[in-house]
Amino acid sequence: MTIAPALPAARLLTLVGPLGGASGPLYLALADRIRLLIGDGRVPVGVRLPAERHLAAYADLSRATVTSAYQRLRETGWATARQGAGTWTRLPAPADAAQPGSWVPAPPGSGVLDLAHAAPSAPPQIAAAYAAALTELPRYLPDHGYHPAGLLELRVRIADRYTARGLPTSPEHVLITGGALHGISVAFDALVGRGDRVLVEHPSYPNALDAITRRQAQAVPVAITDDGPGALVDDLFRATRQSAPRAAYLIPDFQNPTGIALGAEHRARLAASLRQQAVVTVIDETLAELALDGDPFPPYASFAGAEEVVSVGTLSKIAWGGLGIGWLRADPGLMRTLSSTAARGRLAEPVVDQLAACYLLDHVDELLAERRQALRVQRDALVGSLVRALPSWEVPVPAGGMVLWCRLPHAMSSAIAAAAPAHGLALAAGPRFGTGHAFDDRLRLPFTHPADVLERGVEILATITAALPAARGGHPRDPAYVV
Ligand SMILES: Cc1ncc(COP(=O)(O)O)c(C=O)c1O
Repeated sequence: MTIAPALPAARLLTLVGPLGGASGPLYLALADRIRLLIGDGRVPVGVRLPAERHLAAYADLSRATVTSAYQRLRETGWATARQGAGTWTRLPAPADAAQPGSWVPAPPGSGVLDLAHAAPSAPPQIAAAYAAALTELPRYLPDHGYHPAGLLELRVRIADRYTARGLPTSPEHVLITGGALHGISVAFDALVGRGDRVLVEHPSYPNALDAITRRQAQAVPVAITDDGPGALVDDLFRATRQSAPRAAYLIPDFQNPTGIALGAEHRARLAASLRQQAVVTVIDETLAELALDGDPFPPYASFAGAEEVVSVGTLSKIAWGGLGIGWLRADPGLMRTLSSTAARGRLAEPVVDQLAACYLLDHVDELLAERRQALRVQRDALVGSLVRALPSWEVPVPAGGMVLWCRLPHAMSSAIAAAAPAHGLALAAGPRFGTGHAFDDRLRLPFTHPADVLERGVEILATITAALPAARGGHPRDPAYVV
């Protein structure tokens, strides 16, 4: 019998990061970190963990510590032993699974306060949208109901919105998808092959990073520093010349998770440099219309030439994730490739949801005004609670989007996230937004819940943080020191 190679100890330790900020026995801290990694999908389900003696030697931990950590994982359902073949990751039975093993929200009604995902509840217009959709539906019933590009009446509305935002668009430029992540997936299927390099901001949206890895392509991360958008554009240009990426995946509007936005001048400069290097760019506009202070920016594609940009849009954040309607926008040549790629995976999106989307787009100004106002209030409430309860955290206030990207006083994000499920809280550790163990001094917090819920979340965060010893940063036993 051949046994699959184990996850290398070095890789696991890079992901685990320093254990210095964790409280309690070291074996529990190690088990908690590995559980967190399995839970949020960074360590896949069904892989063999490194042999205990390798991990112990590599991490300069005692063998007993690793043995106890693995035992703990097995006892809690996050790993299983196979006779003579080591310890393998798995997910616990649903009843005790705190995290589902990939980057998806905990199911509604699970009683978990989800501060891991930025997904607002439905606005009141959703019910009216579906009532209107049912009224319109009979027009479509005599046909088979498959509309591969999406309903024309929906594509017209989306095209008109782009045109109004400064990017002349016709329905042929638009393909309806099942949300933004589906759109990203179609774009990567069409544009990115095995071994290709894909330029990304670092940090970035976890599911897009996963989508790159799953295609066996390589993310080329470009750090978002405190030096502002101008420096980011320069760094993206430098990385483009050095790495010759096939494609780029970028979020120029209220970037997830940092919240930064590129102004018109930066968009123009970035588009020019990516065009010069013939990089096809996937622009994620999921958050583009969620400007909270000031006006939204003109669409990135209005600064780029034809055939170079695929824009990804969605109604998930403006309206509701449960609707599951998004789109791709590209010039007709590129759109032909995208459409045929999409059709191989899914014939068409549901007619009723598309009709509901038409209604929502007819009311989009009202929807946006209400969504933005709610987000402003919630953002300010979350910032206020954090400043009061956790004064050592730095909390930059983003001008748009739905999340805060907090800077913690120590590399303690994984330790906090690992402790959170025991308090009924789901958190996304900072490293979930990166490509290694960067960002353990960061925590992304969405302000998509009502203010009182956010305040409760911050109280729990303060309780967890108070129980952690001050991070001992740089203790020689920290695994990061030996990789
Ligand atoms: C940047 C970004 N892209 C894509 C998505 C996924 O959007 P959808 O729910 O429409 O698939 C999200 C959701 O949070 C996001 O933040």
